[in-house]
Amino acid sequence: MTRIVNAPSLANCDLLTLASDVEQLVDGGVDLVHVDVMDGHYVPNLCFPVSAVADLTRRHPEVRVDAHLMVDDPGAYVERLAAAGAHYVSFHADSTRFVRRTLAAYQAAGMKAGVAINPSHPVDIIEPYMKDLDYVVLMTVEPGFAGQRFLAGSLERLEQLDDLRTRSGADFEIEIDGGIDHEYGAECVRRGATILVTGIYAVFQQPDGIAPAVRRFDAAMAAAAAVRADADEARRVARR
Ligand code: DX5
Ligand code: ZN
Repeated sequence: MTRIVNAPSLANCDLLTLASDVEQLVDGGVDLVHVDVMDGHYVPNLCFPVSAVADLTRRHPEVRVDAHLMVDDPGAYVERLAAAGAHYVSFHADSTRFVRRTLAAYQAAGMKAGVAINPSHPVDIIEPYMKDLDYVVLMTVEPGFAGQRFLAGSLERLEQLDDLRTRSGADFEIEIDGGIDHEYGAECVRRGATILVTGIYAVFQQPDGIAPAVRRFDAAMAAAAAVRADADEARRVARR
């Protein structure tokens, strides 16, 4: 059965307690951390610089970093993100005229490369380069700010994306970013997502603390993954 990866977003942390928040994430079993990199141009906000990725991989070599670029000109960060030790890097489908070249540059530098789809774009925007993608980030909030609500209509969009993947034979992973709680997380897993970015609704600001919240969320998503695995098996049997 596919393991569902919980990638908590550090954009939800208090900068003054960031180090201890990361310790607690690791204690809870997190091994992929989502770092939002913003430039104040692609989105009207600033978040983490590339150096935050380097700090994280240096202090916590046991975690992998999923860098989410909300920047104009994502091709300009390849060398620095490679040096910083990023494992996954995504950028927005409309943030460069050269999506293929940018994907190829990240992959050539040893990273998994993905494209993020905004809520206002059709999911088939990725069709021309679907086979080149390691993963797709389906935005379920408008990018730029943490702590927003999961947008209505996003589950249908995920179904369309999963269907596009099946029909095309492409094998990219699907990551969901924005407003994930236990309920939406499980709905997304049942619809084929395997990486979930989490924030205040699932991991941070929980009464029992970060590590127990991570463990609870992971157990709930494993149960949802079992439902998805059964459905996949039933589809395989029906096709025989
Ligand atoms: C929004 C960011 C998200 C965000 C996710 O621009 O890309 O990664 O931090 O966290 P929540 O779930 O709090 O929106
Ligand atoms: Zn993000």
